[in-house]
Amino acid sequence: MPTKPSTIQNYTEFLSEILIDEDTLQKRIAELGAEISRDYAGEDLLLICILRGGVMFLTDLMRHITIPHAVDFMAVSSYGVGKRESSGQVRITLDLNSVVTGRSVILVEDIIDSGRTVASVLEFLSTRKPKSLTVCTLLDKDTRREVFVPIGYRGFTIPDRFVFGYGLDIDEYYRNLPFIGVVDLKKYHLEG
Ligand code: IMP
Ligand code: MG
Repeated sequence: MPTKPSTIQNYTEFLSEILIDEDTLQKRIAELGAEISRDYAGEDLLLICILRGGVMFLTDLMRHITIPHAVDFMAVSSYGVGKRESSGQVRITLDLNSVVTGRSVILVEDIIDSGRTVASVLEFLSTRKPKSLTVCTLLDKDTRREVFVPIGYRGFTIPDRFVFGYGLDIDEYYRNLPFIGVVDLKKYHLEG
């Protein structure tokens, strides 16, 4: 139990709008799961999730994939608390346990913004010689792209707004929310 009241804001204080509601998210994720199940039938499918933003999406997506598959996780450092953009320098902070060589790999991501994170991870994974390698992203902020990323499966294309919820954080909080919300950055303040 907390010993003093938390100074972390309630999301309702800075939510400017709900961009994608729970029902719309879940319907689209079911479609993506069905598509992947068709496309990868008979393959040794490995889903790789980039921690931590992709976790909610991965676990819901898996429930809609009807073919046998394995999952594994990796973590990369992009930008730190208080920063809203990738540094462009991506470091692998947690490597996979699984063998990638010869397997059909789908990289599962929450959002592709500049593209730097996924581009680096793809480069890293391709050195391990998978049979195939594709990207499944829930959100695509396509107008922000700085480096090309081939996307095999895309949930939603979204405008250039800072979003949170459904795995996406603001300074590590609010990942639990079942919808994608837009932050009003004038009303959001980081305390601690
Ligand atoms: P990229 O390397 O610029 O493509 O950044 C990708 C990473 O930045 C994502 O995996 C997210 O962790 C984070 N990110 C980008 N845009 C947002 C956003 O609007 N809200 C929360 N996190 C974001
Ligand atoms: Mg992320």
